[in-house]
Amino acid sequence: MCGIVGYIGELDAKEILLKGLEKLEYRGYDSAGIAVANEDGVHVYKEKGRIANLREAVNADTKAKTGIGHTRWATHGVPSKKNAHPHQSTTERFTLVHNGVIENYEQLIREHLQGVELKSDTDTEVIVQIVESFVNNGYTVQDAFRQTLKLLKGSYAIALLDNETPETIFVAKNKSPLLVGLGEGFNVVASDAMAMLQVTDQFVELMDKEMVVVNRHQVTIMDLDGIIVERAPYTAELDASDIEKGTYPHFMLKEIDEQPVVLRRIIQEYQNDQGDLIIDSNIADAVGTADRIYIVACGTSYHAGLVGKHFIEKWAQVPVEVHVASEFSYNMPLLSKNPLFIFISQSGETADSRAVLVQVKRLGHRALTITNVPGSTLSREADYTLLLHAGPEIAVASTKAYTAQIAVLAILASVTAEQNGAMASTNLIKELGIVANAMEELCDKKEEFEQIAKEYLSTTRNCFFIGRTIDYYVGLEGALKLKEISYIQAEGFAGGELKHGTIALIENGTPVIALATQEHVNLSIRGNVKEVAARGANPCIISSAGLNHEGDRFVLPAVDSDLTPLVSVIPLQLISYYAALHRGCDVDKPRNLAKSVTVE
Ligand code: G6P
Repeated sequence: MCGIVGYIGELDAKEILLKGLEKLEYRGYDSAGIAVANEDGVHVYKEKGRIANLREAVNADTKAKTGIGHTRWATHGVPSKKNAHPHQSTTERFTLVHNGVIENYEQLIREHLQGVELKSDTDTEVIVQIVESFVNNGYTVQDAFRQTLKLLKGSYAIALLDNETPETIFVAKNKSPLLVGLGEGFNVVASDAMAMLQVTDQFVELMDKEMVVVNRHQVTIMDLDGIIVERAPYTAELDASDIEKGTYPHFMLKEIDEQPVVLRRIIQEYQNDQGDLIIDSNIADAVGTADRIYIVACGTSYHAGLVGKHFIEKWAQVPVEVHVASEFSYNMPLLSKNPLFIFISQSGETADSRAVLVQVKRLGHRALTITNVPGSTLSREADYTLLLHAGPEIAVASTKAYTAQIAVLAILASVTAEQNGAMASTNLIKELGIVANAMEELCDKKEEFEQIAKEYLSTTRNCFFIGRTIDYYVGLEGALKLKEISYIQAEGFAGGELKHGTIALIENGTPVIALATQEHVNLSIRGNVKEVAARGANPCIISSAGLNHEGDRFVLPAVDSDLTPLVSVIPLQLISYYAALHRGCDVDKPRNLAKSVTVE
């Protein structure tokens, strides 16, 4: 969601900015823009839609060595050229890009911008206008920026250009992600390291309420009182090939195929020399001694959390509640006496989850973040972190992060169970190895899932996913995948619950995809399938080997029954992928969605 890049150096800034923005496309956006500064002033280009449109609009003859760029995911004001960033102050001296939400922008307009004609509907424009008004009142640019930041309530990552000093970019951050990248004779700014990996792998993290003055040869970080902060850079451990599609037509397909490799990597990462699974003992203690665990997450990560609850309760014998972060923030349940919070977030930046973490820390509770991104906000601010080791996930629809989250939760539950002397699963390393092989087998059967997508989903306007117990949780994820990328209205339902209302929606030919991987509910889910079939539905049963009945549409390879979510989700991911592909949808960048949702 919204991406920021900036460059100051010797090379053609516009090309580096455009390439950087392309690397941020995965975050989700609906318009894009750049501003480059040279001796003739600041040149702004912006367009609605894809970066390809922006590329066409940029004047190839504009030569500049400094610039900032932005991809916008609309919050205040519709996606349009007018609302796209960069925004400029009235005199056009200042040009600014912003990611986040300024909650008090209406108040700021009333109190600081009377008589100023605003050109956009955004909260962002207010920032650049206030900077200019402070400068008009005699402040230096640096002080004007700092004073402006002190007025802002909400979240922001900002890059600001002053056309009187094109050798400087002013940067600030609060709650929204932003990094400064370092190079020989140049420096860069980016929402994430991937955007600037093309020029450097050396980055400096910024903390909330810091501002930075970035020149070609110098980066000066300070707090909002102007006190200089020293911080060493780190090396971004990303492989450039991880963020390329290679021979794949879409990142989503590549990432689905990566799942067995990621699972094997996780087994390695969480194993000691003796071949035992290990987790930092503080983390296992925290889980084992909690009287209740609260898992907090959004979207796909929430669905992984539901499966995690099953492992932790069954193996480690600790009660678990799973909550949607955006609800938890405003509707906190009565907490137990000694809770542990587990935040699950692929990106580690999701604002809804972070809002809960801030409250949890304020209450003095312990928190563990399970994330794919080391150094992300949720990781930094929690007491403990477990990494997913899934490699960058670029497609908006999460696939490999979901299975990685489930695998890490299984390991966490199993190690804790062992430490507590509770009932652990049998030989998890071996069972996860069998799962990785099963995943590979499924990824090799793409044509079968393409065929199912064609048969069931090519013309339908809706689809149901049903299952019981952990199959229900996977059904929720299957429905989310399908609606995210194909725009088919899809719902995941507990098989037994469908008849209490939703069955009214079943019509002749309505596809109902049913999962049957759990022996104790195998007959009851099949009963539910019969109920919908009797009302005209077109059922597609995906079952586990050993539990299959005649007529099942696909039989999954046998794996440990608790670990079936790791395999049963793969057909659902692939069916969604092909359904979206056949409908001509933009699989990797679905409409209206953002990968990293940095506003509440
Ligand atoms: C967005 C994405 C979803 C993702 C959710 C949570 O809504 O579109 O795919 O599951 O955020 O993201 P997180 O990074 O916290 O796992």
